Amino acid sequence: MSKKIAIIGATSGIGKALAEELHARGHTIGATGRRVERLESLKQKLGTRIHTAYMDVTEFDDAIDQLELLKQQMNGIDSIVLNAGVSNFQKRVSHEGDMHVIDVNVRGFANLAAYSYSMFHRQDHGHIIGISSVASFFGWGLSAPYSASKAFMNTYLQGYRQKANHSDADISVTTIIPGFVESEMTEGKRGMFWIADTDKAATQIADAIKKKKHRAYITKRWRLVAWLLKIIPHWVWNRM
Ligand SMILES: NC(=O)c1ccc[n+]([C@@H]2O[C@H](COP(=O)([O-])OP(=O)(O)OC[C@H]3O[C@@H](n4cnc5c(N)ncnc54)[C@H](OP(=O)(O)O)[C@@H]3O)[C@@H](O)[C@H]2O)c1
Repeated sequence: MSKKIAIIGATSGIGKALAEELHARGHTIGATGRRVERLESLKQKLGTRIHTAYMDVTEFDDAIDQLELLKQQMNGIDSIVLNAGVSNFQKRVSHEGDMHVIDVNVRGFANLAAYSYSMFHRQDHGHIIGISSVASFFGWGLSAPYSASKAFMNTYLQGYRQKANHSDADISVTTIIPGFVESEMTEGKRGMFWIADTDKAATQIADAIKKKKHRAYITKRWRLVAWLLKIIPHWVWNRM
């Protein structure tokens, strides 16, 4: 069945590829981001069943207003993909850099997730999909705010999944856990392995959305890495 799916952060990388994949599967897409020229070219490329809205997720009130405007354009929203995210991999500690990651990945994400849950509850159905990361399973010295922000996302979505389970509304919550994916975020980064291209990642994410999975690793083999990370003793991790 075709759905109306909003994708927050659809101007590049995983979000853009997912917009194209879900559109190809017959869904109506609401794409957001700050780079309006990219939204415009996505609109040109896809033609029909595509709506766009400028949105900076750190402008909390405006982000909600933009989501409501997008909903009007789309004549409703059945699912929302919370994909917008930033990282700051660096040796030097930057207070400002850390706060920006937290504003986008934690506050920006939670603002839209909580609002969407209420919106879906009022309309009796909906699907929230959050794009987390394998980095969520450990605190990494090169990007402590990033890994912590994704751990927040996992726990937050798990809580909402349980809440949805106890609700009369038909609400699903999916946590997507990618390993490395080729994108602007990972450009030039060293030491990566098992790198998926965005098309492969988008296909697997779209499959997980269709099946309303609770959790999905992208690509599937990253489940193994997640399992290994969870069993590494803390004293070993601290020395690595
Ligand atoms: N690539 C990987 O290996 C990998 C692995 C695990 C998880 N992830 C997660 O996957 C998601 C997508 O990342 P990507 O790899 O596809 O990177 P990307 O190409 O850099 O895409 C990031 C997206 O987030 C949007 N965004 C960033 N800051 C924003 C803000 N303040 N307001 C609104 N939108 C904002 C960007 O749109 P604008 O700049 O146009 O606003 C863009 O559409 C992120 O949540 C990331 O943490 C990526």
